[in-house]
Amino acid sequence: MGRFGKLVAAAAIALAAVTTAQAAGEQAELKKVSLPHMNPFGSYDFAAVQRGLQVYQEVCAACHSIEFLAFRDLNDTGLTPPQVKAIAAEYTVMDGPNDDGEMYERPAEPKDRFPLTFPNEQAARAANNGAYPPDLSLVVKARIGHENYIYSLLVGYADPPADKELADGMEYNPTFPGGQIAMAAPLSDEAVEYADGTKATVDQMARDVTTFLAWVSEPTLVERRQLGIKVIIFLVIFSVLMYAVKRKVWADLH
Ligand code: HEC
Repeated sequence: MGRFGKLVAAAAIALAAVTTAQAAGEQAELKKVSLPHMNPFGSYDFAAVQRGLQVYQEVCAACHSIEFLAFRDLNDTGLTPPQVKAIAAEYTVMDGPNDDGEMYERPAEPKDRFPLTFPNEQAARAANNGAYPPDLSLVVKARIGHENYIYSLLVGYADPPADKELADGMEYNPTFPGGQIAMAAPLSDEAVEYADGTKATVDQMARDVTTFLAWVSEPTLVERRQLGIKVIIFLVIFSVLMYAVKRKVWADLH
C-alpha cells in the first residue's frame, strides 16, 4: 500500500469509528431554540434571565449547584441591590473561624456565592441513585449544541418506544446521548409561579432557565460584542485614513 493508500485507509477507519460512536450514542437531532442573545448582535433578555433564576432556585437547585455564581452578580440582571440582598438572605453560608476558632453559619450576603447543593460529589451521587448532577455554571458552554442542547434536553422527555429497554431508575430522553438519563423530567406545567405573570409552561420555563444558564456561563457576552463592533469601526476608519495617506505620499511619483 502506498502512502496515499495508507492515508485513505486511516481516514476510512477514523470515519467508521466516528459513525459507530454516533450509532452507539443514539442521539436525536436537537431542537433549535431562538433566544435573543443567540443573534450575532443580540443581548440577553434579562426578564427571561430573572425568570430562569427563579426556575433554577425553585427546581434545579434541589440537585444542581452553580458554584461560580455570586449573589452580587445578579445586580447585572436588572435586579436592584436591595432585591439582591433579599435573595442572598434566604440562604445560609458557613463562615469563620470566629475568635473561638469555630466555624459558624450566617445568612448569605451579596458577596457570597450560591451555596453548594451537596458538599461533594459522593454526597450528590448518594442522593441521586449513583448519578452525578453536574454543576451548571458552565454547562451551556460545555455541551455540544449549547443552548439548543439544554433546551432540547429539558423539553425532550417522552414515553419510550416499545423496543427501548430502560435501566433501573432511568428515564427516556432521546436528546441525551444513549437515550436514557438518570434525571427525572424536572419541569412540569406550573412548576413555578412567575411574579411577572408569564405563563409557566414547560416550554417557557425551559427557555427561561436556558437563558439564565447562558448568562451565568458568559455574563460579559454583550460587552464583548460591543467591543468587537468598536474595533471593527476603528479598523475601517483607520484603513480609509491610511489609504488617503498613501495616495498623498505617492501623488508626485507618477
Ligand atoms: C432530582 C434531582 C434533579 C433535579 C431537580 C434536576 N436535575 Fe438535572 N440532573 C440530575 C442528575 C442525577 C443528572 C445526571 C444524569 C445522568 O448522568 O444520567 C442531571 C443532569 C443534568 C444535565 C446534564 C446533562 C448532560 O448532558 O450531561 C443538565 C444540563 C441538567 N441536569 C439540567 C437541569 C436543569 C436545568 C434543572 C432544573 C430545571 C435540573 N437539571 C433539575 C438531577 C436533577
